Amino acid sequence: MKLKTAIACGLLLTSQSLLAKDHTVEIEFDASESGPLIHKDIYGQFAEHLGRGIYEGVWVGEDSDIPNTRGFRNDVLNALRDINVPLVRWPGGCFADEYHWREGIGPRDERPVKVNTHWGGVEEPNTFGTHEFFEFVELLGADAYVNGNLGSGSVQEMAEWMEYMTGDKGSTLAEERRKNGREEPFEIAYFGVGNEAWGCGGHMRPEYYSDLYRHYSTFLKAPHGKMPKLVASGGTGDDTSWTDVLSKNVEQKMDGISFHYYTLPLGDWDKKGRAVDFPKDEWAKTMAQTYEMDRFIQMNLAVLEENDPDNTVKLYVDEWGTWYDPEPERDPGFLYQQNTLRDAVVAAVNFNIFHKYADRVTMTNIAQMVNVLQAMILTDKEKMVLTPTYYAYGLYKVFQNSTSIPFEIKAPGYKVGDKSVPAVTASVARGDDGKLYMALVNLDPENGADIKLDIDGVTAKRAVGQMLTAEAMDARNTFEDPDAFKPVAFEADLDELEIPAKSVVVVELK
Ligand code: AHR
Repeated sequence: MKLKTAIACGLLLTSQSLLAKDHTVEIEFDASESGPLIHKDIYGQFAEHLGRGIYEGVWVGEDSDIPNTRGFRNDVLNALRDINVPLVRWPGGCFADEYHWREGIGPRDERPVKVNTHWGGVEEPNTFGTHEFFEFVELLGADAYVNGNLGSGSVQEMAEWMEYMTGDKGSTLAEERRKNGREEPFEIAYFGVGNEAWGCGGHMRPEYYSDLYRHYSTFLKAPHGKMPKLVASGGTGDDTSWTDVLSKNVEQKMDGISFHYYTLPLGDWDKKGRAVDFPKDEWAKTMAQTYEMDRFIQMNLAVLEENDPDNTVKLYVDEWGTWYDPEPERDPGFLYQQNTLRDAVVAAVNFNIFHKYADRVTMTNIAQMVNVLQAMILTDKEKMVLTPTYYAYGLYKVFQNSTSIPFEIKAPGYKVGDKSVPAVTASVARGDDGKLYMALVNLDPENGADIKLDIDGVTAKRAVGQMLTAEAMDARNTFEDPDAFKPVAFEADLDELEIPAKSVVVVELK
């Protein structure tokens, strides 16, 4: 970025990013062409009963001193509304396969207290149950993704939960829902038939799970037009056997197969890497690890192209994000971690990958929304901070339900040991407001990038939008300094478009 542009944007960067040698990146597209829709649900969130993700993070109860609306904290609700959260997945994750929905309905003070055996062995009061979840998503203006219990539940339990939520007749279950305060059926956008069946969901083999999926899904019934999209529990990493077996063996309704992949900087579950104060080579390793998402999606899509050429089964990346070593003073079972500029870049790299495969990847959920893993929001009792990842979602909200525009990008490699990832990745789309948007992510922490555009189909001269960047790789907000990291305005002529090192830029081209 030229110094005068940086100052004009209200951002004075004196770092090496201004001095280091820039990459040259070429991007070419015809704005009159269109690719697949970038579904709004790509920007979905995940909220599990884990650590302080639900209790304190979302739910404080009506009697709390923390300002709330019927028990849901107002600051969190307002912040999430600002980034247009389209979809929330609940109640897990691993928790889902131990969750018995009947324990979370009826008078709150009569609900059983359980132990959350997956996450920290803490007491689970069941205060936040089915009605609270739907009230929460309705307050947010988001859709609901409910994950059923296949691992330790039964066909009957799952089928009855569906009827309780969606029944519109006078059945005993629908009447019970009405007695508990909800006259109209709940609207469910997606329903997960178990979670991580290969692991915490039951340590199954894909062949066995695919039979169980056929069995359970047969009995999931909802009134006409109210049946949610059904999600089969799929694989992780480079194991495509789940996608293969499910897409071959399931003849019943199966709208998508889930896929989970977490970014561990060091690629090792026993030593993942730190969330803050990490060395420079851990930035590089994080980018290489997160870019694996591209390869893993391609591998799964190749299987789906073969087994489902009509594209009736989608790939839902319903868990993804960074996962670091727990902070020493925190409960390791709570998966609480800080969030820095590096996480914002990771998020944006993944958004650009999801956009690339938007005809099959139509829904994703970052793990997780508040206080857990790569969170949007961190809370400490009454205090709240917004993370760099939150701001990445804020910048990219213009891509929700946009129409992608095919483009060619030539970017040099950013070398990571003996591997290399593209130094710059991008997205181009026509927003549902009719405007032309471009996103640029510079993964390189040291070199800026000159962006040479070759655009047909529209006359555009200026790029106007917002940018995330900072001096420090681990720039972040803290409870002591909650506004240390924020987006800044970005404006440039298209014939001298430059972006700094380690930055995320989303602009309208006009
Ligand atoms: O997001 C945390 C956990 O990661 C989820 O509960 C589980 O599905 C995955 O292994």
